[in-house]
Amino acid sequence: MMGIRNRLQVFSGSASVDLSKRVCAKLGIKPGDIYIGKFPDGEVEIKINDDVRGADVFVIQSTSAPTNDNLMELLIIIDCLKRASAGRITAVLPYFGYARQDRKAEGRVPVTAKLVANLITRAGAERVLTIDLHAAQIQGFFDIPVDHLYAAPVMTDYLQRINLGNSNLVVVSPDVGGIKMARAYAKKLNADLAIVDKRRIGSKQTEVMHIIGNVSDKNVLLIDDMISTATTISEAAIVLREQGAKNIYACATHAVLCGNAMEKLARAKLKEVILTDTIALDSAKIKSFIKILSISELVGEAIRRIHNSESVSSLFI
Ligand code: R5P
Repeated sequence: MMGIRNRLQVFSGSASVDLSKRVCAKLGIKPGDIYIGKFPDGEVEIKINDDVRGADVFVIQSTSAPTNDNLMELLIIIDCLKRASAGRITAVLPYFGYARQDRKAEGRVPVTAKLVANLITRAGAERVLTIDLHAAQIQGFFDIPVDHLYAAPVMTDYLQRINLGNSNLVVVSPDVGGIKMARAYAKKLNADLAIVDKRRIGSKQTEVMHIIGNVSDKNVLLIDDMISTATTISEAAIVLREQGAKNIYACATHAVLCGNAMEKLARAKLKEVILTDTIALDSAKIKSFIKILSISELVGEAIRRIHNSESVSSLFI
């Protein structure tokens, strides 16, 4: 087992450079020296400039868009570290892409979450550290240890600071799959819970939405693991408003924000959308109603504990 004396080194892939700097600042170490470039034909070129022999190495890389490039880059960095004789390699994926294809929902479709887990393991990672997986059972797709962190403590700290917990609040899950997460927030914030129940009806499969719970004259906090196209959150906001909700807030760990998601959120007229920095956002594109919280302290503390063989689960209490 790796002990406290093996030196700790943190490298970043190109998707998570700023986050890695913040994590390293928390750990009081310098980010590892790595060259990431492209060969003339577009293939990824990596060179680790630090000696990593025997070291306890963490590679931070979100597999966010461009997903395939970032994933391939992560695999190549892991391969590079392995061949440079790193003592142990932990893949840190603040955002684990391809997670939504986690089962065969119909015939002749892949299970990409499992494929990606296999690729990361085969490349040479011995551990994984990640945050708010789309489905917790993806941990079981890995046959190596996975530490699964939750952004909820970071989010609820902020929500308590802005006094949302004491504001006649209802926490709302925008779909049935998110109930567990929403319930945890509701408990922490002493708020009620409601659920958006989406159903397809009729031969043309029209979608109707019902709210299970009472949101009339209440402030509402929508909770989701990610905002991708922003359709889920925007549609939920419309129904909640129809049902008499007052101010609508939304909280999501992963700011996938593809296409015109930012504009859609703006049109949904949410009071505030609270996201984290698991995915780097172009600061020029961040609108005034967006609040970004950093998970760097959480990740830094988890890395410190893994390195020192201390409990990580006690971080969740
Ligand atoms: C769904 O299961 C997820 O938890 C999110 O609700 C969904 O992925 C968000 O996607 P979009 O923003 O595209 O509606």
